[in-house]
Amino acid sequence: MKIDIDFTNCLGFVTMKEIRDKAERSIHHLDAIINRTGTGNDFLGWLSLPEESQGLIDNINKTAESLRSQAGITVIIGIGGSYLGARAVIESLSYTASFFSNKVKHEVIFAGQNISEDYHSALLAYIDSKPFNIIVISKSGTTTEPAIAFRLLKKKLEDNVATGNINKHIIAITDSEKGALRTMADSEGYESYLIPDDVGGRYSVLTPVGLLPIAVAGFNISDFIKGASYMASITRDNRNAESNPALLYASARNLFYTKGKLIEMLVNYEPSMHYVAEWWKQLYGESEGKEGKGIFPCAADLTTDLHSLGQYIQEGERILFETVLSVKSPGTELTIPDDEENLDKLNYIAGKRLSEVNARAEEGTIMAHVEGGVPVIKINIPEINETLLGQLLYFFEIACAISGYILGVNPFDQPGVEAYKRNMFSLLGK
Ligand code: PA5
Repeated sequence: MKIDIDFTNCLGFVTMKEIRDKAERSIHHLDAIINRTGTGNDFLGWLSLPEESQGLIDNINKTAESLRSQAGITVIIGIGGSYLGARAVIESLSYTASFFSNKVKHEVIFAGQNISEDYHSALLAYIDSKPFNIIVISKSGTTTEPAIAFRLLKKKLEDNVATGNINKHIIAITDSEKGALRTMADSEGYESYLIPDDVGGRYSVLTPVGLLPIAVAGFNISDFIKGASYMASITRDNRNAESNPALLYASARNLFYTKGKLIEMLVNYEPSMHYVAEWWKQLYGESEGKEGKGIFPCAADLTTDLHSLGQYIQEGERILFETVLSVKSPGTELTIPDDEENLDKLNYIAGKRLSEVNARAEEGTIMAHVEGGVPVIKINIPEINETLLGQLLYFFEIACAISGYILGVNPFDQPGVEAYKRNMFSLLGK
């Protein structure tokens, strides 16, 4: 099974020939990535992670198993690229028939992605005196949000683990040398995993940053890596533009951008995919939004947001294009029951599965949006599983790198992120 990309609903706005020609003309950007000759080329370690991370699988699964056996809850602390990939995969896989049994086996909670007093108070109150583990993730090891959460949760752990060492409940994932988290891990003796120097946060889901939380949540990281590996073979290792989905996607979005489509909306019809869109927003936003350029990435959960954003998408400024994550088969089965009285007038769909109704909603919405002037790229995903998520995430990563090079920016830095930190530190008197 594999994901594929469909441009049928774009053809009133660009031709397939334009997309293919642009992809052909963009092969040199793929070459620059592979040969490490483009800007930001010291951050290309993620390219070979599908191969390199194979060697980590057994070790990570062992650590995950030991964390699961010693506590029912693991709190993953991190922000941006240090949590979004793991959360995207874990939440996508969670809406299955085994969702509740997985949760019973082990609960994963995220913290450190905000500085909200209410959020952290609620989390500490929920944990109460339960045993729990912490996986604290920060590449720089100095990011304020996760550092605050770690200080709070470490204190809680010290209170909860009355006797003995709290260290077996803490795993740090950070740089091999730099940063406060590295210093703490070394001086306190926490078990730690390394984030390779040449992998930036938003490209790190195939390192322990993504793999350990996914494994702790009970999902199959070997299949996840296999999926990424397959996608690498048809994108990274494929100089045939016509059959390279990453080249085609990067090219289509750049063509839309040059035609005034300044916003890309990543749309799903499965709420479990919400965090894939959050991860994607960070990947594309941080990689492309610089030097006064870049497509603004936003997302919508449909059909939910058809009752909020739907009006704008249909009739507002014509600066949008849409990319739909189109999941073909659900992991469960649910049919709309017949009702003798039919007071709700729903018997015309009685006996149909919800997925069929959802598919017709998707089809009808795409038709309406295209008619309203919004081109739609479709990414067909046969079902939600580890392998296909591995394909999807690697596809978006390599397409993003190509897209950044087409745009003429360094897709691997994020200088603008520092501005708010400078002001916050100065206001806090750091
Ligand atoms: O993609 C990135 O590099 C960023 O979004 C970082 O992941 C984020 O700022 C967190 O940084 P760190 O892992 O250093 O705490």
